[in-house]
Amino acid sequence: MAELGQKTLLRLTDEKPLIIAHRGFSDEAPENTMAAFHKAISAKVHMIEFDVRLSADNEFVIFHDRKLERTSEGKGLVKRLAAEELARIDNGSWFSSRFSRERIPLLRDVLTLTKHGTAGAIALNIEIKPDVESANGTPVEAMLVEVLVKARALHHVMITSFNHKMIKRVKHLNHEIATGIIYNPITNFRRSPSQLAAAARAEFFICSKYQVNHDVVNDVHENGLKIFVYGISSERDTGRMLRLGVDGIISNNPALVKRAIEMYRNE
Ligand code: G3P
Ligand code: MG
Repeated sequence: MAELGQKTLLRLTDEKPLIIAHRGFSDEAPENTMAAFHKAISAKVHMIEFDVRLSADNEFVIFHDRKLERTSEGKGLVKRLAAEELARIDNGSWFSSRFSRERIPLLRDVLTLTKHGTAGAIALNIEIKPDVESANGTPVEAMLVEVLVKARALHHVMITSFNHKMIKRVKHLNHEIATGIIYNPITNFRRSPSQLAAAARAEFFICSKYQVNHDVVNDVHENGLKIFVYGISSERDTGRMLRLGVDGIISNNPALVKRAIEMYRNE
């Protein structure tokens, strides 16, 4: 895949819908692990979505929850442990003993894996969790942009968050980075998708399958934005997304989504 960048990423969605592996191919491997990312790459997805947090020593690590318990053998808050301590935790046995060697990935490692020439420059949707703060007072958005610049990854990533202020700050720091806001029905319900995206200067609006309808898609497209929808888990869901004309489908099972798209197209 060629370099993405904000403009190219927008153009890429012309081949819609993009297929995005949610937390990697997380139906087949433990979420947010290298195993799940490799499986997503083998399934030839367009993009991999994953969640980032900071360790106690300010290293970006890939992990969904604030606490370690649900998806690892560790205990307590991710942010209380240094990267070296997090790296020792078994991050796969909770899913299956076959994955007991999985560890908590570092963002740096995934940026290397997905760089052009290694896994073939796959696009990444980096979701920064809304409560992430750095331990040393440096704004977390600045730290993230710096990591991406150093890894020369600006052109194959997009940054998303439920925290729209973070997204606005990312764009302020570097306007080349593609960004997206994730819809929060509790705090965002008063404003339209395009109003929310404009307030954060984002190009992408992301919501769940329960929040999308024709009005949402029309509002997004009439304002020159793109929409990705998550929670797609069946052929039926996929068919509905095709009829709605969304730009990206985020799924734990991207292979199922791919098959369903082919099936509907051949009908
Ligand atoms: O980006 C879509 C989705 O990942 C947002 O929710 O909780 O799965 O990170 P969550
Ligand atoms: Mg996520």
